[in-house]
Amino acid sequence: MNNNESETTVASDESKDPTGETLVDTDVSSGLEGGDRSTRPDDPIVRAEGISVWYDDDQALDDITLAIPEHKVTAMIGPSGCGKSTFLRCINRMNDLIDAARVEGDLYLGGKNVYDADVDPVALRRRVGMVFQKPNPFPKSIRENVLYGLKVQGIQADYDQVVEESLKRAALWDEVKDRLDESGLELSGGQQQRLCIARAIAPDPEVLLMDEPASALDPIATSQIEDLIDDLAEEYTVAIVTHNMQQAARISDKTAVFLTGGELVEFDDTQKIFENPENDRVEDYITGKFG
Ligand SMILES: Nc1ncnc2c1ncn2[C@@H]1O[C@H](COP(=O)(O)OP(=O)(O)OP(=O)(O)O)[C@@H](O)[C@H]1O
Ligand SMILES: [Mg+2]
Repeated sequence: MNNNESETTVASDESKDPTGETLVDTDVSSGLEGGDRSTRPDDPIVRAEGISVWYDDDQALDDITLAIPEHKVTAMIGPSGCGKSTFLRCINRMNDLIDAARVEGDLYLGGKNVYDADVDPVALRRRVGMVFQKPNPFPKSIRENVLYGLKVQGIQADYDQVVEESLKRAALWDEVKDRLDESGLELSGGQQQRLCIARAIAPDPEVLLMDEPASALDPIATSQIEDLIDDLAEEYTVAIVTHNMQQAARISDKTAVFLTGGELVEFDDTQKIFENPENDRVEDYITGKFG
């Protein structure tokens, strides 16, 4: 699973996949290797400093400063339209794919500003995987779904081992090990989402971004995803957007509360946010008085 970057070969320019996961690269190592990878458990691996985003003339995020600790689960909560997805997309530069979007400020991954001119966004997306609200497996076999990111980048690896390890980490292996050549689309919604998680972790990213990954799922599948997120945080840093307060309280270590206007109003330990927030607007939001 630890793919040596020197083994990575150059692929063509076809990074047009709507998931942003088409990790085709022209130079995987470009730009990012200069940063210090943090090693201590509470070090921030992702640090936003004064991030503002506009879509044409409309501001979606206003001066966000936030440090996401390594190997923890950080939840982003807040009412619809407050900029949570926009913020996640700043971390792996998926806003680059939206013509109207303009980002200002600095966003560090392990000490390196991902908006520096020498950073290749495609290489960045290999280090920062993403899972979306709606499960979106490709119309390919389960096995090829898992291997998609690696193959498209021409990364050599023991593919059988990657498939098995990724599916095990995504808690799907036992359910699919005898049907790896069947279509990913034949799985249930919850299984499809775990397949998408396996696909996101197969290239061995450092950070996993999850944008409402369980909101389209039934309670049992939701609880499987929640258990999984807990396990994943041992190996990855997880940033998750959720509208489900109980879910944020259950699964996250830190919670960031965004409110209308694209402001980050409070960021603290999850327990503190839910039990004794500093900000009255946060309290009102959490107790359901608005939002
Ligand atoms: N591609 C886009 N083009 C133009 N405006 C956008 C685009 N994406 C988001 N916006 C606007 O930016 C603001 C923040 O949107 P964003 O999707 O980040 O919010 P959100 O907090 O994720 O909301 P939700 O909880 O509904 O998913 C909104 O006003 C939205 O209309
Ligand atoms: Mg959103």
